[in-house]
Parts: sequence; C-alpha cells; structure tokens
Amino acid sequence: MNLSGNTILITGGATGIGLALAEEFLQRENEVIICGRRQEKLQEAQDKNPKLHILQCDISRSRERISLAKTVTEKFPSINILINNAGIQQELNFLEEIDSEKIENEVASNLTAQIHLSSLFIPQFLKKESPAIVNMSSGLGFIPLAIVPVYCATKAAIHSFTMSLRKQLEKTSIKVFEMAPPTVDSDLDRGARDKRGMVDKGIRPEECAKEIVKALEANTMFALIGQAENLYGAVTSGKGEFVFERMNG
Ligand SMILES: NC(=O)c1ccc[n+]([C@@H]2O[C@H](COP(=O)([O-])OP(=O)(O)OC[C@H]3O[C@@H](n4cnc5c(N)ncnc54)[C@H](OP(=O)(O)O)[C@@H]3O)[C@@H](O)[C@H]2O)c1
Repeated sequence: MNLSGNTILITGGATGIGLALAEEFLQRENEVIICGRRQEKLQEAQDKNPKLHILQCDISRSRERISLAKTVTEKFPSINILINNAGIQQELNFLEEIDSEKIENEVASNLTAQIHLSSLFIPQFLKKESPAIVNMSSGLGFIPLAIVPVYCATKAAIHSFTMSLRKQLEKTSIKVFEMAPPTVDSDLDRGARDKRGMVDKGIRPEECAKEIVKALEANTMFALIGQAENLYGAVTSGKGEFVFERMNG
C-alpha cells in the first residue's frame, strides 16, 4: 500500500494507537481525519497536530455513523482509506447482573460499527485509486481473557468478518487489512490492568503504530504484531486451550 497522498479516516484517532497512527500518516503527507466521542481529546490531538481534521462522532450509534460517512465524503471527497480503530473494553462478570446496554454498546462500538462503516465507504472506494479498509483486531481475539469476555468475542468476530470481506472484495481494487496488536500501553484497559497489578504494560502505542505502518507498506493483509503472533500460533498449533488456561489461571 502506498503510504503517502491518501485521505484517511481513523476512528478513535484522538488517543492511543489511533493517534500514533494519525501522526505517522501526517508525517508521510496524507490528509488525516480522526473521530471520537470526546471533543476535548480531539481538540488536544489537533492542538498537537494542527493539520489533523477532527470530527466528533459516537460510532456505536447507527445514525451517527451514517452522518460521519456523509460528512467525510462531502468535506473530503478524496477519502480512500478507512481505519476501523475505535474500540472499548469492559470487564463483565456473568455471576453478577449485567446491564444489557453495556453489552450492546460494546458490540456496537467494536463490531457493528466496523461492519457498517465498511459498508458505507465501499461504494465510494470502488471508484478510488488505492482504496483500503484496515480493521483492528487483537491477540485476544485468538485466545480470550475471560474477564473481558465480550471484548474478546468482538475481536474474534472482527477477524472472521475481515476474512469474509477480503474474499468478497478480492476482485476489486479495495484492499482489506487486519492488524492484530498485542498488549499496548493505552487507556483501553489501563483500569483493569492496574486492578490486576499487571507489571507488563505492553508496547507503546507509537511502537505499535510503526509496526502497523510497516505491515501496510509491505501489503501484509493479516499482521500479527509482537505477542499476538504467539497467541495466534498457539491456536494454529493446537495449544490454544493450554495457553488459555495459563492466561486465565
Ligand atoms: N491497548 C491494547 O492493548 C490493544 C491490544 C489489541 C488491540 N487493541 C485495539 O486497538 C484499538 C485502539 O485502542 P487503544 O489501545 O489505542 O485504546 P484507546 O486509547 O482507548 O483508543 C480507543 C479510541 O476509540 C475511541 N472510541 C471508543 N468508543 C468510541 C465510539 N463509540 N465512537 C467513537 N470513538 C470511540 C476513544 O475515544 P472516545 O472515548 O473519546 O470516544 C479512543 O480514542 C482498539 O480497537 C483496541 O481494541 C488495543
């Protein structure tokens, strides 16, 4: 994939891996638009990177996704890359009562939004040069961490959906990538990590973004970053249950 001269929408681009990716792409002469729910985080990102375009949007809501796609297409008609990066992670204990809204919000943010946004941009991407959809899965999509069960299930589903989408679009110019990061030191699971007293905070978002950019440049359609490779490898070598027990012991 050509890494300059693109117009790129990164969902959840105001923090963590998304922001680090936005900065990588800005350095390479791309037009970058980020979206997120918190205006103050978007503003902070833009203050740091004045060339960044920001749009407030809650991608868990269908109507906001439709309006995001419309606004981006109208304001940035050259849009040719969608990076489905936004996501949330919740600890859910099924021995306690669980608010269905929490479940719906996590599935909508991590899975429905990625599927719907892909469908909204595909018709325009078909007319573009070098279009791409990049979906962010996770090592936890291959072997789950039981305390964040819905998160892991959505990431497993992203892996599955991305394979199907790639197959359906294989005769078009749209490239469909899956990037599977390992543990990254971001806000995503900081609370849960601290609560469990985890010492290994994972790699830095900037490091993860560099690996993603490298994979995109090399047209690696399914990139396993760092420890994510070990988790995927455990599944494919038949050691998934063993590693699952060790991780969740
Ligand atoms: N950190 C890890 O260990 C790790 C590992 C593997 C994969 N990943 C994946 O990498 C991606 C980025 O995560 P991160 O680690 O960089 O965490 P992060 O810093 O928390 O980034 C997530 C971003 O998504 C945005 N977001 C969440 N829900 C949204 C919604 N409904 N609408 C719009 N924006 C929303 C958040 O902004 P607002 O709250 O302002 O909306 C935030 O900027 C996620 O898909 C995550 O699952 C992370």
